[in-house]
Amino acid sequence: MNSCRLMEWLSEMGETDIWDEPMSIQAVQKSNVVTLQELRALMEQVDSPLKQCATNMVFGVGNEHANVLLLGEAPGAEEDKQGLPFVGQSGQLLDKMLAAIGLDRSMVYITNILPWRPPGNRTPTSEEIALFLPYVLKHISIISPKIVVCLGGTATKALLQKNDGIVRLRGRWTKVEGMSARVIATFHPAYLLRSPSQKREAWIDFLQIKSALASIN
Ligand code: URA
Repeated sequence: MNSCRLMEWLSEMGETDIWDEPMSIQAVQKSNVVTLQELRALMEQVDSPLKQCATNMVFGVGNEHANVLLLGEAPGAEEDKQGLPFVGQSGQLLDKMLAAIGLDRSMVYITNILPWRPPGNRTPTSEEIALFLPYVLKHISIISPKIVVCLGGTATKALLQKNDGIVRLRGRWTKVEGMSARVIATFHPAYLLRSPSQKREAWIDFLQIKSALASIN
């Protein structure tokens, strides 16, 4: 059994103490990290079994001074190969959604809850989300966007700390304690590829983002 499969197996058996305790939100926030380079270096040291299974860490990409930060779930196969977020099929749809409200990748910043691809694209576990959430919050505080867009249920539930599904949580502006940005959730582009009839709802969410941006600029 290779080390990736072994880690997955131990994890399924509930053996979660085989890797480091997660660094607390306060510890990451208080760390000396102030730049994206420093954050990347800190994340590269995180001891997660996901690392054993992935090819590349997928950190984040885009305009470091963007007003809008898009937060996805985790890299897929293509993202893992290229080390960049949203470069596969769902990324192509995301580009079209951004273009529809006059944005492109040079105007936004994109990152994910998990920086390493879960094997077989499985849904991230709550332990994995808890491990990386402090780094996500630090990432957001370094970029300091005015608007955070959660793409899909995993990013939304993690950031808002809610258990409701995306259908209930999407399309509403929310505040997250300690974060100056306004947060809105919408459907994940991969879900929209599977359920195109929901694109109408996503469009309504993107129109809200457009008008919020117009009031900032
Ligand atoms: N899905 C995500 O949530 N993030 C990516 O980077 C790619 C697909």
